[in-house]
Amino acid sequence: MDIQQLKKIFGERYGEPQATYSSPGRINLIGEHTDYNGGFVLPGAIDKGMTLALRVTGSDKIRLFSADYDELSEFGLNESDKPSQGWAKYVFGVVREMSKRGKQVSGFDAAFYGDVPLGAGLSSSAALESAFAFALNDVFELGIDKFELALIGQATEHNYVGVKCGIMDQFASLFGKQGHLIRLDCRSLEYQYVPFDPKGYKLVLIDSRVKHELVNNPYNRRRESCETAAAAIRLRHPEVEFLRDATPDMLEEARAEINAEDYMRAQFAIGEVRRLLDACDALVKDDYATVGAKMYETHDGLSKLYEVSCEELDFLNDCAKKYEVTGSRIMGGGFGGCTINLVRDEKHDAFIAGTLADYKAKFNIDASVYDAVISDGARRID
Ligand code: GLA
Repeated sequence: MDIQQLKKIFGERYGEPQATYSSPGRINLIGEHTDYNGGFVLPGAIDKGMTLALRVTGSDKIRLFSADYDELSEFGLNESDKPSQGWAKYVFGVVREMSKRGKQVSGFDAAFYGDVPLGAGLSSSAALESAFAFALNDVFELGIDKFELALIGQATEHNYVGVKCGIMDQFASLFGKQGHLIRLDCRSLEYQYVPFDPKGYKLVLIDSRVKHELVNNPYNRRRESCETAAAAIRLRHPEVEFLRDATPDMLEEARAEINAEDYMRAQFAIGEVRRLLDACDALVKDDYATVGAKMYETHDGLSKLYEVSCEELDFLNDCAKKYEVTGSRIMGGGFGGCTINLVRDEKHDAFIAGTLADYKAKFNIDASVYDAVISDGARRID
């Protein structure tokens, strides 16, 4: 699918589109599960995302066509009009969250497709929310700034999808900048663009093509563990708002009041906030060996302390070590998806060929490989 095909599909159903928009998925170099702990993240938008065509009708209905699923969803603008299709609630949520902020849209027709692989940890859902938030803000001239658009996407996840996510994915999708990572302070939303062009290295994603759908919403449980641990630390250190503010010593002091599981989660989160800052210092010095070492440490923590990895992703991480990749780790929320790999040019080909073969032999799955091309955020196409 491409934009021309999308316009054609739109044209056959609804007539000439008024405008087209696109918003990307993201990678994150380091700083995982730190966003909802008030810490830093280091994401970048990628060259894959969600693209939509749209036309305002002024009715009280939204007609939404998913070109990927070849499915139509029709729903109204009110809270009671929730669509039945899972994929449509991302758009419904955006409309509702805008309305809660006093920004009202009328009915519209839209069609969309995505080229960001689903379930790969590349934030296809944030790309969808951000594409619609950006587009509706533009066509209806609502005057919402990009910070608020990101918060609208995040609130959509919280209130209409049921994932208590942080702000990283929506922020990266909206604020992405070609050739730059974003060093984002998730508490204050202050951010800096960090040029990222590691000479002699490639940034490669290996998609395990597995997504373990676990019961009891393990992502939300991780967040609760962190909040519980932060609350226990706060009894002695009132200045600790989030785990971002805590030190390993503070965690030790409170150990008796924290259960073993929450303790492990907090250990990881506190360590990860520090690791990100160390990696940023190393990046400025073009010290990719240190950045890579930090990535491996993050994987270890995500696997053993945070327990969001899985057999397939641990195997891919071992492959990276075997083929002398500088840095590698599971990326995103976890339980499947991609590893992100920082690999020297001369090691690249052997790493890819070897890993694909080893992974196939072990799991009988063909992993996919994507170059991480750091690109611009949400935009109007025409
Ligand atoms: C998901 C969430 C983000 C973030 C990551 C883990 O992508 O949407 O907010 O918490 O997991 O870093």
